[in-house]
Amino acid sequence: MEKIVINGGVPLRGEVQIGGAKNAVLALLSATILAKDTCRIQNIPNISDVSIMLHILHQLGADVRRLGADTVEINTKYFNSGVVPHELTKHFRASYYLLGALFGRFGHARVAMPGGCDFGVRPIDQHIRGFEMLGASVAFEENAVIALQSEQPMGNLIYLDVVSVGATINIILAAARARGVTIIENAAKEPHVVDLANFLNSMGADVRGAGTDVIKIHGVKELHGCEYATIPDQIEAGTFMTAAAATGGRVLVRGVIPKHMESISNKLIECGAEVLEFDDSILVAAPKRLQRCKIKTMPHPGFPTDMQPQFGALLSAAEGTSILSEGIFDNRFRYMDQLVRMGAQIKVDGKVAVLEGVPFLKGAQVKAYDLRAGAAMVIAGLMAQGTTEVESIEYIDRGYEDIVAKLQGLGADIRRRETYARGEQEIAG
Ligand code: UD1
Repeated sequence: MEKIVINGGVPLRGEVQIGGAKNAVLALLSATILAKDTCRIQNIPNISDVSIMLHILHQLGADVRRLGADTVEINTKYFNSGVVPHELTKHFRASYYLLGALFGRFGHARVAMPGGCDFGVRPIDQHIRGFEMLGASVAFEENAVIALQSEQPMGNLIYLDVVSVGATINIILAAARARGVTIIENAAKEPHVVDLANFLNSMGADVRGAGTDVIKIHGVKELHGCEYATIPDQIEAGTFMTAAAATGGRVLVRGVIPKHMESISNKLIECGAEVLEFDDSILVAAPKRLQRCKIKTMPHPGFPTDMQPQFGALLSAAEGTSILSEGIFDNRFRYMDQLVRMGAQIKVDGKVAVLEGVPFLKGAQVKAYDLRAGAAMVIAGLMAQGTTEVESIEYIDRGYEDIVAKLQGLGADIRRRETYARGEQEIAG
């Protein structure tokens, strides 16, 4: 067991390098199944979700080689299409991309229901309907296994009832090698959807319109290997930008695509921070205390739900009354009770939280309820007076590479501490 210990109140200063996007790379790794060839992917973040996905690919017969710190080479020529059990899929949501990729390659797939962060009910009906529209018969088997079967996936017109990132990506994976044309209407426009389309196209696929709400996929017979670099992580970048602003610091966030950051930059500016965009970096500088603002999370290009908890931490000590509305998930405010333990004044009513900004937070023992809620606890600890201990940090390791070392590089007084039954031991870095 490990926890993160933070002595707060130090404004972050310096430069930080952003890694590859978690939500993009998990789709890209799944897509390698579609080519019986070698794909070399660069800018792979060193996070536990990626390690688990590489483990699953290896278990299914892929030849997986790590070349240096952030590059992986994968050959899926000798791949088997056996069951992917719950033991392997329970750790993260993106394991459902194995359904689309296996179905796209073999015409059948058997993958257990995905795990992932608990934001209330997270249905996958749009994925299932999409597979059915491509010709799959779908069965729900024992041990939560979803089984897809078809002679040959066939293109179709698919209208998504809700804008779903996962369903859009899964349908693209399933349709890339289907016979005929697939059109997805009301598609998600997130940067990782575009990244997957670019990756598939560099493997010889024909995917057009990604980044708009209509995506057209002309199925091709074969896909070949390629070399590709994953886009930077919008949410990791947004987390460091928010941490910089929340501590009244001055940080250059390097290796980002500023266009992807606009909704986040705009809210930081509204709160009183200065945000300067360069070609592939963003400078955030903030006064000691920020101002209130109103945020509603929406599908891209709206404000991302995956940045809502980090802003929850920031706004808890901003001057005035802020309102956070969650527009995507049913239950994403659980972490607010942990901020209240730190002295925040917050009322939650369904999908709306009202935050009366307090002058400062106070250090406390808090829990990471999920990945981004964990990032919010780290930001709160950096802002707070005194010592904060964040527990259940395995959630944070799912999606943040070296978060402690990166924050230390910005001057934060933060460390990991291993907790044994008989005592505790510091861990460097
Ligand atoms: C992905 C991201 C997650 C992010 C979310 C929203 C990955 C691995 N995860 O999750 O980090 O928070 O997008 O940007 O990329 N819905 C349905 N039926 C479905 C699918 C979704 O009703 O079949 C609903 C969901 O309950 C939610 C909304 O649609 O209310 C959006 O969900 P979706 O975009 O699918 O999120 P995920 O792909 O699970």
